[in-house]
Amino acid sequence: MSETSRVHAPGRVNLIGEHTDYTGGLVFPMAIDRGTTLTYTATDDSVELTSGDVAGRVNFPVPFTGSAADETPDWGAYVAAMAGELGAPTGLRGHLVSDIPAGAGLSSSAALECAVGLALGFDGTSLELAQAAQRAEHAATGVPTGIMDQLSIAAGVAGHATLIDCHSLEVTPHLIPDDIDIVVKFIVHRRLVGSAYADRVAECERAEVDIGPLRLASPDDVARVTDPIAQRRARHVIAENRRVMKFATELAAGNYVAAGQIMVDGHASLRDDFDTSTDQMDAAVGALNALPGVFGTRMTGGGFGGCIVAICAPGAVTDGWVVKPSAGAHHVA
Ligand code: GLA
Repeated sequence: MSETSRVHAPGRVNLIGEHTDYTGGLVFPMAIDRGTTLTYTATDDSVELTSGDVAGRVNFPVPFTGSAADETPDWGAYVAAMAGELGAPTGLRGHLVSDIPAGAGLSSSAALECAVGLALGFDGTSLELAQAAQRAEHAATGVPTGIMDQLSIAAGVAGHATLIDCHSLEVTPHLIPDDIDIVVKFIVHRRLVGSAYADRVAECERAEVDIGPLRLASPDDVARVTDPIAQRRARHVIAENRRVMKFATELAAGNYVAAGQIMVDGHASLRDDFDTSTDQMDAAVGALNALPGVFGTRMTGGGFGGCIVAICAPGAVTDGWVVKPSAGAHHVA
């Protein structure tokens, strides 16, 4: 009988640096103490998975050569795409347990891809795991997402957020101080499939035709973007890259009021220039910002719904999840 093994992949929350990854910009996410655990035994010829949280049973032969997007149930698409990406010659029989809700902007799909990758025997670097998982995400959904989710989950460091340069793919851990709470509040389900996410990617590309790579552009370049919509998208991305560096500096210096204000500014930019917020998300952000002890709140993740994240004095917010910066995807002894 083959042995039972276990892998765990965390979810992630992005503190600042939204919609910058697919133009090679800067992001500041952290892996969190909520995630997906896969308990499994190795098998020769198929992947069979059940889940404690979502319905259905995944079952496909390996090596997987089919069309991942057609797998059922829905979540099977991510599993099959990862098996296909890795060209996994052997399979597994296992069970998933997760406390990251799907459609919350906390990267449940990236956690699933990374967990499945490790369980199928992937043994490269965390960057290589993230890149395979990003390709799997594209194959499963057709949405042209960036590298942030998979890389922050693969390369997470306990106690730290990760500043990621999405052009050089350099990951720099930044200590999260222990005298603040990071609170995540789930507001409403959303889906990136069928959303305006792909439009935003195209609009940024349009801006780059006029002014070159947004990651190298300065605020003065924005006026040279001819299309008014692409101009607003560029203004967000260029300012957001600068906010990431400023946020990292203020956080490290213990200037939480200043760091919080950067999150507030980042949300306003997503709302006004990037058009990825909604009235419901704006209201939720406003309500949290009004609480005593809250330094700053913003929507986190791809947008159009999902979660908001706040930094605050310990205990200031009680109706959310206080999340802790956690290690990346790993085998559990
Ligand atoms: C989703 C994508 C990421 C990133 C964010 C927005 O989470 O998967 O690549 O683009 O949206 O910052």
